[in-house]
Amino acid sequence: MSHVPVLAAEVLEGLALQPGMTVLDGTLGLGGHALLILEATAPHGQLIGVERDSRNWAVAKERLTNYGDRVTTIRDSYGNIASHQIPPLDAVLLDLGFSSVHVDQADRGFSFMQEGPLDMRYDQGQELTAEAIVNGWPRDDLNRLFREYGEEHYSGEIAKAITEARKKQRITTTTQLADLILKLAGGRGAIHPATKVFQALRIAVNDEFGELTRGLTELTKLLKPGGRLVVISFHSLEDRIVKNFIKESTELVAVNKKPIIASDEELRQNPRSRSAKLRIASKQEPT
Ligand SMILES: C[S@@+](CC[C@H](N)C(=O)[O-])C[C@H]1O[C@@H](n2cnc3c(N)ncnc32)[C@H](O)[C@@H]1O
Repeated sequence: MSHVPVLAAEVLEGLALQPGMTVLDGTLGLGGHALLILEATAPHGQLIGVERDSRNWAVAKERLTNYGDRVTTIRDSYGNIASHQIPPLDAVLLDLGFSSVHVDQADRGFSFMQEGPLDMRYDQGQELTAEAIVNGWPRDDLNRLFREYGEEHYSGEIAKAITEARKKQRITTTTQLADLILKLAGGRGAIHPATKVFQALRIAVNDEFGELTRGLTELTKLLKPGGRLVVISFHSLEDRIVKNFIKESTELVAVNKKPIIASDEELRQNPRSRSAKLRIASKQEPT
């Protein structure tokens, strides 16, 4: 999978960067977008990079070290931003979800294609794992989770199969779960039949929708009037939260009515851009 930042040109334009600006990247990842932001705000612009995953945080910190005191990094969820001292911001970027390294590193448990522990935590210090959900949640809760966060048509059947299987043996690995779903689905569908269940588990383990709603609320407060909010989401449920948040906000105005998607050229070069949707909002000047 590619490590190239998604929708790079569109993100830079959406953030409306000028030299000297203070920008917060709430999902630093490996620092791909952050590097571009630092170049566009040179020579004195400030970047605050927030990352929940210690491994990615460490890699990004190292990659950005040449920028010295222009960079501040915070190892936390952007949803907790209110508990940090943050100056007024000219622009905010959120590039949601997991990074390519999460999928590439089998030991993190994000991929049904590789054998690994059923983990899926961005923050490995937190207690809740995918294994705890799969083995501990009642059947009805699993059914609702797969239906609501995975939009999985066969949520009931899968929840039933899991609760029966775990009576015999605890489900501890990604492949154990993926094989169970595969067996149930047979050859049906164009995508791997475990895709939606894995998505739902990842969202629940990391409370991704809760973090997103908290983050959007707090980050909007930190934006200066005229400041830009740019969000890239990777599935319709996330995009809906962002779209509705902007629509219902009394402080934000949507810059683009329809989400921006990747160009044909980017789609050819970077498969991850396929499902990316970018929304831009501007904080209104006080009247
Ligand atoms: C798609 S990647 C970002 C890639 C980045 N824009 C780049 O160019 O390298 C998303 C990153 O956000 C992190 N992340 C996910 N949820 C987060 C949260 N609530 N707070 C902070 N970081 C989060 C993930 O660990 C992952 O590294």
